[in-house]
Amino acid sequence: MQAIYTARRQKLLENKPENTMVVIFSGRAPMKSLDESYPFAVDRNFFYLTGIERENMILVLRKDYRGTYSETLYIEPYDEVLAKWVGGRMRNAEATAISGIQNIDSVESFPDRLASIIESSRGLGKLNVYLDLWRYHKDQADTPAHTLAATLQSRYPAVGIEEIYGDMAAMRAVKGEEELKFMRQAQEHTRIAIEEMLAYCKPGMNERELEGSFDFALMKQGVREHAFPSIVAGGARATTLHYAENNQVVNDGELVLIDLGSAYGNYCADISRTFPVNGKFTERQKELYNAVLEAQRIVIENAKPGLTTRDLNQLVIDYYESRLDDLGLRKNGKGVRDYYYHGVSHQLGLDTHDICTDRERTLKPGMVITVEPGIYVEDEAIGIRIENDILITENGCEDISAAIPKTVEEIEAAMAK
Ligand code: GLY
Ligand code: MN
Ligand code: MN
Repeated sequence: MQAIYTARRQKLLENKPENTMVVIFSGRAPMKSLDESYPFAVDRNFFYLTGIERENMILVLRKDYRGTYSETLYIEPYDEVLAKWVGGRMRNAEATAISGIQNIDSVESFPDRLASIIESSRGLGKLNVYLDLWRYHKDQADTPAHTLAATLQSRYPAVGIEEIYGDMAAMRAVKGEEELKFMRQAQEHTRIAIEEMLAYCKPGMNERELEGSFDFALMKQGVREHAFPSIVAGGARATTLHYAENNQVVNDGELVLIDLGSAYGNYCADISRTFPVNGKFTERQKELYNAVLEAQRIVIENAKPGLTTRDLNQLVIDYYESRLDDLGLRKNGKGVRDYYYHGVSHQLGLDTHDICTDRERTLKPGMVITVEPGIYVEDEAIGIRIENDILITENGCEDISAAIPKTVEEIEAAMAK
């Protein structure tokens, strides 16, 4: 993998002008009230460029005024005492072995090194510092990149601050072979755990017990990492898209919607399935279920490079529109969007809702997206979503979740085990 990380870093700077720096932080876990921290999740861009999953590291890539490329990884020094408590910090040699970065320095020296780079660029044209500054919410907390941008702007107003988000999105959206191996492995772990959950489900169980059966089945495979908190929603609770309490009883005659996935090497699987708690679909459940399944089939059949995820969503809406009358859903002035109120696809990768700009809505070979149509009929206490993950290929797509039971027959058979 080392060569892959090295190639990614070089590619990121390939089309940048001279006098450019890219600074990416690995991040830090937030602290609790005293000496414990909340779980650490590495910044996905940092991980993508280094393969390292450690706190308080800073990656600096440079193209100097002559166009010469250099890279430095700033890390916390090894601490013998800390090693006895929680294990050792990464040693320089290990950081080099994983990332391929030869030049390792102490994170404490980063401010001085940065100052000297800025000072040495005096009179050589504008120095541009690229940072990931994008925010999803206007009130989102500042990241170390925001703090650095503010410091640079106030202390060195001649330094240019540039955004790296778009470059990262373009690179991360198209998966390479190595990434796909991780993604396929996450699918397989998830398939095995879903099949165990289907066989385990019985009326009267708590949603949490079902969630636990999935988790235990993952743990038995040596996997603890989830792509996102699992959703296990019985009955009407399945009409709340991101219901996450998972603490009610699932009853005979109801459907239960699960939306979950493991992650492997930080690459996510994102799967939804809907199944009858007692192992047998009623005729009405089957009718609605097969409509969602057909919507998914249409999208998978049509997905190909050049289409947008909006085009795919329109296929779902058009199909539902053609079925609303015979499904008995065109009542009380209701239309498709009253029963299907989300999009059909998002990018999938190191994040479950993976990095994306408007540009990545147009499909390209190597992208992995979800296909997750649903129908939510609140007054029948039915929520159905079926979600597979597909790899866009040169001419169409490959369903990388194809092995996970999905048809009425497959689900009933898996539940009868
Ligand atoms: N699990 C969240 C989603 O399907 O988008
Ligand atoms: Mn999902
Ligand atoms: Mn999804």
